[in-house]
Order: sequence, then structure tokens, then C-alpha cells
Amino acid sequence: MIIRVIIKTKTMKKILILNGPNLNMLGQREPEIYGTLTLKDIQNLCENTAKENDVAVDFRQSNHEGELVEWIQSALHDFDGLIINAAAYTHTSIAIHDALKILKYPIIEVHLSDPDTRESFRHHSFIAPLATEIIKGKGAQGYAQAIENLVKLINL
Ligand code: DQA
Repeated sequence: MIIRVIIKTKTMKKILILNGPNLNMLGQREPEIYGTLTLKDIQNLCENTAKENDVAVDFRQSNHEGELVEWIQSALHDFDGLIINAAAYTHTSIAIHDALKILKYPIIEVHLSDPDTRESFRHHSFIAPLATEIIKGKGAQGYAQAIENLVKLINL
């Protein structure tokens, strides 16, 4: 007798984490503001947090606005949620704002520092109107928090 065992595997949810310009310089860049961790350290933190929360993460960084726009466009069907630290493009990019409008899943905006307590040109965010949640001023830990919160939102 042949016994067929069908194991139903829950498909793992996928989160895209995008980082904007100059974040590749973390560790060397204004450590008094951004801390001493490198982007690779933050990526490791995100990957460990994702494992603990049973989700997959794809962690990327670009210094180019168009590349970020293209990554957002192509993320339409392949992901369940987005975490974005658009860095300086947060305050300037209507193109990223428009691209984010296309997504149908939750978006969490993250900043290592709190832009609201810094220069006035950092007070406006083009990402904020599209974000379900904004986490700022918590350093690298803000990314881990964003993953935990996003997992709850996408499992609703
Ligand atoms: C930042 C804040 C932005 O104002 C700045 O341009 C960055 C980093 C942050 O993570 O605190 O590059 O997004």
C-alpha cells in the first residue's frame, strides 16, 4: 500500500528593504548622527530578525533615484511588504513617491536619525503620505522594529 503524505507548506512572506544614497557609507558617515554600524551590520540584523519572524528579506541599497524607482516598480508582485529608508531622496523625490503609490501592500518608512529634529530641509517627507508607519530616531534597531511591525501588518 502506498501512503501519500501531503505536507502543506505555508509560503513564506517576502519583505523588500530599500536603502537610498550614502547609506552605503554608514560606519564612516557622521557616526555622531548615524552610529558606528555599517550597512552590512544592519543587513545582518535585518536577516536575523527576519529569520526569527519567519519571513524572507531582500536587502538593497542604491545611490541612484532611478534604480530605486525601478526596484519599487518590479516589487509590485514579488513582495508582501516594503521597508524604505530613502535617505536624502525622502525629502526630494516625487519619482519615488509616485512609484510607491503603485504598491498595494504596507510600506514602513525608516530613518536612523530623527529628521524632524535636524535641519528644516529634512522636515518634509515625500514617503510619509504613502507609509503605513514611520520609525525614526531609533538607529539600526528601527529596522528590526520595522520588520516586526510589518510582519504583523501583512499577517492581518
Ligand atoms: C536618513 C535621514 C535623511 O535626512 C538623510 O538624508 C539620510 C539618512 C536617516 O536614516 O536618518 O541620508 O534617512
